[in-house]
Parts: sequence; structure tokens; C-alpha cells
Amino acid sequence: MSASQEFGSEQPTARVVGADTKVPLAQGGWIRYANFDYAASAPALRDVADRVTELLPYYASVHRGAGYASRVCTRLYEGARDVVARFVGATDGQHVIFTRNTTDSLNLLASAVPGEVVVLDIEHHANLLTWQRYGARVVAHRATVADTVAALDEELARRPAALLAVTGASNVTGEVLPLAELATVAHRHGARIAVDGAQLAPHRRIDLAACGIDYLAFSGHKLYAPFGVGVLAGRADWLDAARPYLAGGGAVRNVGIDGAEWFTGPQRHEAGTPNVVGVAAIVAACEALTALGDVGHVEAALTAQLRDGLDAIDGVDTLRIWDGDRDVLGIVSFTVAGYTPSVVAAYLSAEHGIGLRDGRFCAHPLLARLGAPGGALRASIGLGTTAGDITRLLDAIDELVEYGPALTYAEIDGQVGPVNDPRPLPDFLVA
Ligand code: ALA
Repeated sequence: MSASQEFGSEQPTARVVGADTKVPLAQGGWIRYANFDYAASAPALRDVADRVTELLPYYASVHRGAGYASRVCTRLYEGARDVVARFVGATDGQHVIFTRNTTDSLNLLASAVPGEVVVLDIEHHANLLTWQRYGARVVAHRATVADTVAALDEELARRPAALLAVTGASNVTGEVLPLAELATVAHRHGARIAVDGAQLAPHRRIDLAACGIDYLAFSGHKLYAPFGVGVLAGRADWLDAARPYLAGGGAVRNVGIDGAEWFTGPQRHEAGTPNVVGVAAIVAACEALTALGDVGHVEAALTAQLRDGLDAIDGVDTLRIWDGDRDVLGIVSFTVAGYTPSVVAAYLSAEHGIGLRDGRFCAHPLLARLGAPGGALRASIGLGTTAGDITRLLDAIDELVEYGPALTYAEIDGQVGPVNDPRPLPDFLVA
């Protein structure tokens, strides 16, 4: 079976760790976990877990030892930059800096931008609060993607900025932004463009050189490499001129009691012992996703099944930012009339073994603009999702709308769940 045939098929894929995990139901019995929360954190690819297991016997310090294991880890760490650079189409004048996650990458970039920043009002908090702190100008999105691009064009023409910071795809609606077009707009007005690729990178290849993107941030934990590493890739000059993001060992050539000579290059911003396990994981994910190739047609079919199915249920409303035809990823947010999102999420978990996210998705202004200030539900798909999972989700929501939940739900310790929840925890959590 080819790689893309396997994705989306009824066979729980061997590609994703935990794709066949069974979870308990509150009314008794166990069922295969249907994970619809890939947009928050994706499970590890099998290739990623294998690479981490292979590395662990050699785990040692990076840049700090002459021992064989230390050399292995240092070689892996430095070689990783080239793998990631190839994965995102970075060119010679661009750095690949390892961070903790997308938020960390954007905060690092923010500390290096020598001027004003323009953002849209659709951003999730990582790509909003980071810039808000530095007084960013926020442009309201318009009814269509084209009108929104035109609004950004006008704003950059009205008053120059150093940087346009945009998401690659909305974490709420999965709608994809026209990045090459936005890069052209930014460059036309002398600005650079930074892309928050946290949602886009797990679904589509992003090519910095081909799209004219100056900076890209993304996270391992959404890219099937949940071991605590993120990436900032982009043009070297601002980053080399900026104050080191973290002060500490590894970022300095020489230290005196009154000052230090800091490196330029990625290590300038990577003080402290680096997370070589996380870096091994993200490299393995980049390699595995490259080998897998384009699975967009499978994802498009699953997304259509999910969206069309939800749209067909009475009382379910799906959220969207823009009118007209849009390019979308496998992320759908929705509300169910008569139920708070937290009760629906708790019901899906307790009575059907389905996991998804509810709330405001770290995108409070956008949820308010979309008419869901109290939050919504979000179903997001990934490489372990099958058409059968989607049918399960749709059937469960149908059942809720038709008959209501079988159990009583209440808020307990700040989280909604079934009253007297009998579901056991795994042994490793039981004292
Ligand atoms: N931004 C992440 C999400 O959408 C945390 O779930």
C-alpha cells in the first residue's frame, strides 16, 4: 500500500504512535481513541519515536564534550540545521535557529525587528501578543481574502513598516493565506514578511525561497515531533545584529568579568544546553514528511467529509473568516446549538472516546469577530485520521442533537466532565 493510500484509510495507520490506542468510555468498555486535536499537538510519527530511541543511548552534551557520545550529539545537532533548511526551502543567507516552539520563535524574532510591525486581527495569540507588546499596527480582516490583502497593501503604503507578520493558516478555521502574494505586497513597500507556520507546516510544504518569505516560525509539537523544539528560519542580518535572545553559555566566544563577545549565527540566540532530543525528533519529522510526499488530496477528501457532514447537522454552525472560495486545511471549528462547547467536548470524550479542543483556541479576538465570544469546538485532522473516525464524530454529534447526552455533566476542578466519572487512568498515573 502506498503512503498516501494508507493515510485516511480504515486501517489504523502504523505511521503515528498511538493511532490504535484504546481509551475507556464512561459507560463501560474501551474504544479506539479518535484524535481530532492535531492542530493543538500532533502525536509523534513512528519514525520520530524510532529516531529518538536510537539517539538516547548516545545522549550527551552538545558543543561541550570530547567523548564519542558528545560528538555524536554535536554532529546531529549541527547537521540538523541543513535538514530543516532543506525542508523549508531556506537559502544560504538564512539561519535555522532552534527554539522551544512557535511562540518562542516569534518572541525571538520580535526582539530583532528594527521597526514597526503590521499584523492582521485573525491571529492566534503567539502571533498577536508577541507583536502587541511592541506596539504593532493591527489591520482588520475584510470580507474576502482578496480584500484583506488589499487592506494590508493600503496600510503598508500609508505608513511604512519593517515587518508584516501573518499566519500561514488560521488555527481556528484552517483557512490558508496567500503567502507568495503577501510577500510581494510586503516587499513592494520595503517591509519583510514573517510567517507563523505552526498550522501550515504539518499539512503543506512551505518554500521560503519560492514564496519570498523572509522568516518562518513553527513547532515540533504540531509537526509530529513532540519533544520540545521549535524553529525560527530566516534572514541572518537582523538576527545577527540583535541582542542575544538568551544570555548564557554556548552563545559566546569569550567572556570577561565586565562583558562578552557574542557569536553571530544561530548559536547567538541558543544559549544554554540545547535540546538535542527535540532536534533529532524534528529532523526525523522533516525527513519523514518529505518522504511521504504530498497527501493533500487525501486530506482534502477527509476535510470535505468533515465539513460537509457538520454542515448537514441541524443546529451545527461552522466558523469561517472569509466569504467565497477559500483554500482550507483539515481544521473545522463549530458550535452546537443548545450546548456549551465544554459540555459537547466532555460528552464526545466520555461517551464516544473522541478528543477535540473546545474554548477560544488562543485566538480570543478572532472568536469574538466570528460571533463565538464564548468559544467553540475545533476538530482538526492529521496523519492518523481515518474516514471512519470522521463518521464516528459526525454520528456522535448527530446523536447529541437528536437525544442529548446520556450522562450528566458538571464542572469539576475547573474542567467539565461526567459526574462520577468512572474512567480509570493509565497505570503510570496511579499512585
Ligand atoms: N495555537 C494552538 C492551537 O490552536 C495552541 O491549539
